[in-house]
Amino acid sequence: MLADRIPWVEPYKIKMVEPLKITTREDRVKSIKEAGWNTFLLRSEDVYIDLLTDSGTNAMSDYQWAGMMLGDEAYAGSRNYYHLEDNVKKYYGYKYLVPTHQGRGAEHLLSQTLIKKGDFVPGNMYFTTTRQHQELAGGTFVDVIIDEAHDPEALHDFKGNVDIQKFEDLINRVGAGKIPYITVGAPVNMAGGQPVSMANMKEVYELAHKKGIKVVLDATRNMENAFFIQQREEGYNNKSIAEIHKEFCSYSDAATMSGKKDLLINIGGFVAVNDWDLFEELRNLVVVFEGLHTYGGLAGRDLEAMARGIEEAIKDENITHRVRQVEYFGNLLKNAGIPIVLPIGGHAVFLDAKRFYEHLSQLQFPAQKLAADLYVESGVRSMERGIVSAGRDKVTGDHKYPKLELVRLTVPRRVYTQTHFDMTALAVIELYEKRKEAKGLKMVYEPTYLRFFQARFEEL
Ligand code: F0G
Repeated sequence: MLADRIPWVEPYKIKMVEPLKITTREDRVKSIKEAGWNTFLLRSEDVYIDLLTDSGTNAMSDYQWAGMMLGDEAYAGSRNYYHLEDNVKKYYGYKYLVPTHQGRGAEHLLSQTLIKKGDFVPGNMYFTTTRQHQELAGGTFVDVIIDEAHDPEALHDFKGNVDIQKFEDLINRVGAGKIPYITVGAPVNMAGGQPVSMANMKEVYELAHKKGIKVVLDATRNMENAFFIQQREEGYNNKSIAEIHKEFCSYSDAATMSGKKDLLINIGGFVAVNDWDLFEELRNLVVVFEGLHTYGGLAGRDLEAMARGIEEAIKDENITHRVRQVEYFGNLLKNAGIPIVLPIGGHAVFLDAKRFYEHLSQLQFPAQKLAADLYVESGVRSMERGIVSAGRDKVTGDHKYPKLELVRLTVPRRVYTQTHFDMTALAVIELYEKRKEAKGLKMVYEPTYLRFFQARFEEL
């Protein structure tokens, strides 16, 4: 088939469309000022191409929409819950399931259940909500990712890997008794969507188990991770995404999941575990914060869309298209000499704002400004992933000054066409040509938690 020679040909066609508003530059200048130079505070109506996130922004299939009509909205024991439970067992391999309204709901329950005040929780780079919940539970997050992950130009097939030495050093320093679990996110969102190898995951699991430490997988985009393993790791070339994904999960004791990514839905998540006692505790807590243990804050129809989403998402042709589409887009920028994070990751292309706006210091919020400028130029919405997202040190109160100062152009699943990416790439290239004119920002409003969502800025 000719389609075999085009690496990311769509395994779907379009049945319904959503019109987009075309705005003028004048409109967009007004909108961004009203939004305090924060793309999170823009109205979606005023955005042309929305690459803010791949979270909950996916296009569902006719199979999923048909499932929505079969929502069993009983308070307890909805049949859609049992469909989801079956699919989590079948495709992820965990024994017990607690649904939650989204990923951070799962992180909240797990952090509250496992972390005691004064504990340490290592992980392969922080994720905003994950770390926030660990800190609210009294823990301290410790980054144990390999050094390469903090360097946007370092080339590494599995740049999301855990540095086993760093993990071991932490165990020696604080003692295994103070480490309830290690979180492995695969791929690593904040590092640019960089994958973790099977060999590394296995090594983490072996060391953790020797020391009595649990391994928690952030499985949010784990099917994308499986694609990288299939392409890059010896011995996996002939295995399906489903097989690789399930083997990867088998090197963990539990998973938190934001279904809003891999699972092609608009809302939903879960925490899944193998240990009965842990399950009991999670089930006790879910009724306090989310809802009954058979719906976890979701409607029956949402559970059904998620159950069906698993079946579609796991197919090789889906993930291949998904990651290759991101790669197509990334290559447009790379080939034009735009500074981006390399290798190109699984869910997004990340602009390196430090090199893009070289003349701005980190305290002038270069990534925040770059995201805003791209919107003004083109109507394309992206997201800051730099000093604003990193937040403040909970002890000193100072900014955290992350090495990576990035703008994320995130690709929703099954939503945009090749022309949309061609246009976005042109917009970035044109902005790069006049990069020296850019002015920085100052922060004029700062929320306490996850400040990047609602912070406001003014142009210097
Ligand atoms: N873990 C990872 C790796 C994530 O990317 C996210 C969400 C979560 C957990 C939390 O899940 O949003 O369902 O509560 N990431 C979104 C993003 C917000 O834009 O990257 P959630």
